[in-house]
Amino acid sequence: MILPRVSILLAALVTLVVSGPPSAAIYQRSVPQGWSLHRRADPETFFPLKFSLVQSNLHKLEAYLLEIADPASPNYGRHWSPAKVADTFRPSTATVDAMRTWLAVDNGIGLANIQLSRNGDALHVNVTVAEAERILGAEYNIYRHGETGIERVGCHKGYVLPEHVSKHVDIVWPTVHFERSAVAWRDTSASGRWHAERESGVVKRPITEGELEVSGCDQAVTIACLRDLYHFDYQPLAANRNTIAVAEFGAEFVLPSDLTMFFQKYAPARVGQIPTLISIENGTNTPQGDSVEPSLDFDLVMGLLNATQEVLQYAVGTTQDNQEPIDELLGALDASFCALEGVSGEGLIDCGDKPLPNVISISYHFSPDYNDPNITPVISRQCAEIGKLSLTGITFVASSGDSGVSYGGGLGGCLVNGTLVDGNPNGSFVGQFPASCPYVTAVGATSVVPGNSVNDPEEATTAFPSGGGFSNVFAQPRFQRTQISNYLAKFAPDYAPDIFNRSGRAYPDVAANGFPIVIADGGEFGLAGGTSASAPIFASVVASINDARIAAGKGTVGWINPALYSRAFAHAYNDVTNGSNPGCQTSGFLTAPGWDPVTGLGTPNFPLLLAAFLALP
Ligand SMILES: *[C@@H]1O[C@H](CO)[C@@H](O)[C@H](O)[C@H]1NC(C)=O
Ligand SMILES: *[C@@H]1O[C@H](CO)[C@@H](O)[C@H](O)[C@H]1NC(C)=O
Ligand SMILES: *[C@@H]1O[C@H](CO)[C@@H](O)[C@H](O)[C@H]1NC(C)=O
Ligand SMILES: *[C@@H]1O[C@H](CO)[C@@H](O)[C@H](O)[C@H]1NC(C)=O
Ligand SMILES: *[C@@H]1O[C@H](CO)[C@@H](O)[C@H](O)[C@H]1NC(C)=O
Ligand SMILES: *[C@@H]1O[C@H](CO)[C@@H](O)[C@H](O)[C@H]1NC(C)=O
Ligand SMILES: *[C@@H]1O[C@H](CO)[C@@H](O)[C@H](O)[C@H]1NC(C)=O
Repeated sequence: MILPRVSILLAALVTLVVSGPPSAAIYQRSVPQGWSLHRRADPETFFPLKFSLVQSNLHKLEAYLLEIADPASPNYGRHWSPAKVADTFRPSTATVDAMRTWLAVDNGIGLANIQLSRNGDALHVNVTVAEAERILGAEYNIYRHGETGIERVGCHKGYVLPEHVSKHVDIVWPTVHFERSAVAWRDTSASGRWHAERESGVVKRPITEGELEVSGCDQAVTIACLRDLYHFDYQPLAANRNTIAVAEFGAEFVLPSDLTMFFQKYAPARVGQIPTLISIENGTNTPQGDSVEPSLDFDLVMGLLNATQEVLQYAVGTTQDNQEPIDELLGALDASFCALEGVSGEGLIDCGDKPLPNVISISYHFSPDYNDPNITPVISRQCAEIGKLSLTGITFVASSGDSGVSYGGGLGGCLVNGTLVDGNPNGSFVGQFPASCPYVTAVGATSVVPGNSVNDPEEATTAFPSGGGFSNVFAQPRFQRTQISNYLAKFAPDYAPDIFNRSGRAYPDVAANGFPIVIADGGEFGLAGGTSASAPIFASVVASINDARIAAGKGTVGWINPALYSRAFAHAYNDVTNGSNPGCQTSGFLTAPGWDPVTGLGTPNFPLLLAAFLALP
């Protein structure tokens, strides 16, 4: 076995190339927090081993995207077809051949047990545990999650790939990433039924219709408040040619009766409508889990957009072992990212068979963002996939998180010596994925200052600390450097160099109101919030801009970040300069004139943003 060699590694190293023949790449980690080693895996059991292959041309992804998304580019708006995306990034024949040779010739695996995924981005190998252990120099175990009792197979002590093989492989599943499946956290601070209880600093409470009548937009944010704040009242011209989707994960649902209750009061033309359900991986809208997130999302998107605009609900199942929730969503949209054709019992059910939206709102997060062998390769591949889908003209909008500069969700805390320690209150700042992915438009949360009106500047939400900061995994794209350098030079707090990563992708990009939002949920009106609300509000703005561009014979806006930071857009925001996003026992970052890591460039001034996008080809 490989133990002696593995034991010399530092835990922080993702890949170590050991010199001298036979050279090999070795991967290892410790048993993740919350999990324990339960028992050895049965050597006779067959299990699906998957090799995610290195894609062609991936290093050119950002350049390809800038070619169509940089307002200064002559090819602005010329989106790619899904077929061109698949062809461009498909792993090379050399990669596939090298892998087949290694598996079949060097390791004696029958060719019938080695299958290439439909669009050639992965090899699925049907082997016994004993065979996998032999091929990978690994020791497979069953791990059990303490709280839920969920079991997963993995090999935390590591595995070895010869160097001539490792250069063709992004990720081997399942190995060291065994606990990652079924992780999706809502960015709704006020999630759960509201009883007058405190959670994450937010009082969740119902509100009577009498109270609603007399509440200003500082106390209860209605659709009308949002229209006034952002001058956002758009009559669609091309609704039947435009699409917007909201992703919901796990057993989250919205009750039609709650939507009716909300629409009767705030959007009468929508009464009787429900979102169009798109089931992904057997996801449903049955009342089982929680409803606050979907109620918030659909009240906002359907309430803000004219009733003629259909709204899709991607209900992502998250029921399968060893599938990441975000992968289930991305796989359903892009066949080049998913399953094995014709083999049941593994891979994804939905493979590139779901309608592509023009804009998708995601109020969930899937992973902390810091460098770790269990995290970096996984979120890098997922972010690249978001970039590939963006090439076709889709805009990904996501909440920036509700935990300030620390990480919320399952493993909550700050970084100690570069590692997230659950519950650790201090240490270095942690990013959050997908907001940290440069191909996502991340939205932070604002509020109307108590006592003020919609005509006054908003502040960063104080009900919870709005997520923001710097990625440890994704480099800072060139298009945001001017604004970020300005912030770092003039306004950044004087933290030690290891507290946050000044060279990382900075987020959020923009902001929108996140508290206290009026929703109907569980048969009553109530106040909820989170960057969960900010994302669907901003996604509705993008959907309206797409409508206007489609009506003008132009393309959808797709990846908008380079445009958002460009000079022609500088006036299109309401700058937010009051507030901060504390965490890790610091005051986090302070808002500042221009871009800041709390509220990004600011909230949208819809007419100005629309005009700026309509001025582009
Ligand atoms: C894997 O191979 C075994 C033995 O040939 C077979 O029984 C099993 O059905 C295969 N599994 C899959 C998913 O193909
Ligand atoms: C929706 O758009 C239609 C067509 O432009 C318009 O007549 C109608 O007033 C709009 N409805 C709302 C609620 O804004
Ligand atoms: C998904 O649904 C299909 C058809 O309804 C069913 O056959 C299959 O077992 C389901 N899969 C899972 C993983 O629940
Ligand atoms: C962090 O690393 C330093 C230097 O290696 C070590 O002294 C310290 O104990 C570590 N702290 C924790 C909490 O692991
Ligand atoms: C971090 O918090 C822990 C536990 O509250 C405390 O023991 C430690 O001294 C703190 N470290 C710093 C650097 O503040
Ligand atoms: C800081 O971010 C860069 C990406 O811009 C990354 O390469 C580097 O490893 C990060 N540093 C740490 C300590 O995570
Ligand atoms: C800034 O926020 C604080 C705290 O909410 C508030 O008291 C103050 O009035 C705000 N200042 C401005 C100029 O809005």
